Amino acid sequence: MEEHLTVGRVAELAVVSVRTLHHYDAIGLVRASARTAAGYRAYSAADVERLRDVLAYRRLGFGLREIADLVDDPATDAVARLRRLRGLLLDQRDRVAAMVTAIDRELEARAMGIRPTSEEQLRAFGPRLYDAIGPAYPATRRTEPRIAARVWEALGDVRTVLNVGAGTGSYEPPDRDVTAVEPSAVMRAQRPEGAARCVAAAAESLPFADRSFDAAMAFSTVHHWRDPIAGLREMRRVARRVVVFTHDAGDTGWRHRFWLTRDYLPEVAELVAGRPSVDRLARAIGARIEPVLIPWDCADGFLEAYWRRPEAYLDDHVRRAVSVWTRVGPEAERRAVDGLRDDLASGRWAERNRDLVGLAAAELGLRLLVV
Ligand SMILES: C[S@@+](CC[C@H](N)C(=O)[O-])C[C@H]1O[C@@H](n2cnc3c(N)ncnc32)[C@H](O)[C@@H]1O
Repeated sequence: MEEHLTVGRVAELAVVSVRTLHHYDAIGLVRASARTAAGYRAYSAADVERLRDVLAYRRLGFGLREIADLVDDPATDAVARLRRLRGLLLDQRDRVAAMVTAIDRELEARAMGIRPTSEEQLRAFGPRLYDAIGPAYPATRRTEPRIAARVWEALGDVRTVLNVGAGTGSYEPPDRDVTAVEPSAVMRAQRPEGAARCVAAAAESLPFADRSFDAAMAFSTVHHWRDPIAGLREMRRVARRVVVFTHDAGDTGWRHRFWLTRDYLPEVAELVAGRPSVDRLARAIGARIEPVLIPWDCADGFLEAYWRRPEAYLDDHVRRAVSVWTRVGPEAERRAVDGLRDDLASGRWAERNRDLVGLAAAELGLRLLVV
């Protein structure tokens, strides 16, 4: 016979108040659906499992409404739900570890009589990058149809597509059955009405069984992953075909070719240092590499998009929607923007970049990995 637990016993085991349990029951989040022999309300094994998930999401900081969506997700089974929770917990563990490391560093610095800057003190304790910059994202980040066509062509004639690091879903093919994965609550909340269903998880631990999708795609996100190779292997595990749009972090050539990073923002080199090269990423999943040229009037405002429209980088909205500008810090940003503004005014930029004027598209190290 199935074991039933009384409300009091569950409260005791889970260390939550009976009042909280009654509240979850009243709003339909976790109901005590069984009855004891004496007729009291009780929790079945399934109720307890659901409560366990709810409490774990609470500890991760999710709100009750979002938790309801997560635990009611009809497309996931118990194993998929556990994988999702595991991914989120690992993510939180890493963030806590980063804070501990930051404190250790500060203790060491203080022992040597060095006071860390305010910027250093705050950096490790801020929210997840995209929870912080996410609200500025939709201002300039949208589908670039010519690049979308390349991605969709590479996906081929598939029915189900997983979009990893989906953000607001700019490159999701409209005529396929899409499932999105996005760890940032802010980005998930900004997905348009009617967008594909979106699961809170991270690439490194996808909450899906092997071969659950015909294809998996990732657009402009791999460079944010804690472990890009693990994430790509996960995509390969859950899907038969994989399509990834990313930039070549290993090729220093593009940094010299692209005037923004060459002449104004050399700090980008430090940001990408140590990231796996595109060759390494491709090798990890046996993918072929295709170059993607960036049209001069690219509609999606990623870092390289305005290579022929330099004035755009003076616009705060443009910069706030690209994580690099936040990651280099306000000092480097100010210096880069001031330098560019001066060079545009003096004609120095035009003189240095004369060869760009007639170009319709540029090779800036962006690549499609296809397997
Ligand atoms: C530049 S945005 C791209 C969003 C979307 N793919 C697009 O092209 O508009 C990068 C996204 O990657 C997400 N991201 C960061 N770390 C991730 C991880 N470990 N797994 C999956 N996505 C992640 C961020 O939350 C953010 O939404």
